[in-house]
Amino acid sequence: MRLDKFICESTELTRSFAKKALHRGDVTCDGEVVKSSSFKVKAGQIICLDGKVISVVGPRFLMLNKPADTICATFDIVHPTVIDLLDIEKADTLHIAGRLDIDTTGLVLITTDGQWSHKITSPKKDCGKCYLVTLTDELDASLVETFAQGVELRNEDGLTKPAVLEIIDSHHARLTITEGKYHQVKRMFAAVGNKVVGLHRESVGKIVLDDDLAPGEWRFLTDEEIASV
Ligand code: URA
Repeated sequence: MRLDKFICESTELTRSFAKKALHRGDVTCDGEVVKSSSFKVKAGQIICLDGKVISVVGPRFLMLNKPADTICATFDIVHPTVIDLLDIEKADTLHIAGRLDIDTTGLVLITTDGQWSHKITSPKKDCGKCYLVTLTDELDASLVETFAQGVELRNEDGLTKPAVLEIIDSHHARLTITEGKYHQVKRMFAAVGNKVVGLHRESVGKIVLDDDLAPGEWRFLTDEEIASV
């Protein structure tokens, strides 16, 4: 696609304003200033306008390392939202594929593609979400079987779906669940008389939080990560 057309489709700029921005040197492709409107944009290239990434046409998929004290919502008057952390054009077209609580940290997937996020969030799709959990009370080995069988949550009918618990040490464990009920991990541990004091999402399906992302940082997903869902 021509660069001027690409800018129009990815931002609110008209074709003539896009051309002016190009002339001023406000547009970069993979870090290099590009002034030509007819420059052809190729898949995977990072296009920035005024230093902000506008690189992706069509569906967009990204991962964020969520810091504590941010909200998984598109708007909040008190706290910053995860969308506020994305310095990205057309952020209003994005939604969060599986929310985390304000105090939970780690992997958040954000996309424009509703069908893709449904595959992550629908309990019927069995997409595992793995959490590193810190607890106030000592873990008992019998909990592995209890969570595999399912537990009853307060104010919910039936049992939770089978979950995989890996005990790391007396107060730390990894828990993989395929549902996303409200405060599910905290409520599962509450159901067995323990209390979660730290919760960090490490992976969703085969998508693992990138070690290179500091809290608050994000990147686009790779084609393999997108296809893995
Ligand atoms: N379970 C919780 O209790 N909180 C989260 O943020 C995610 C899963």
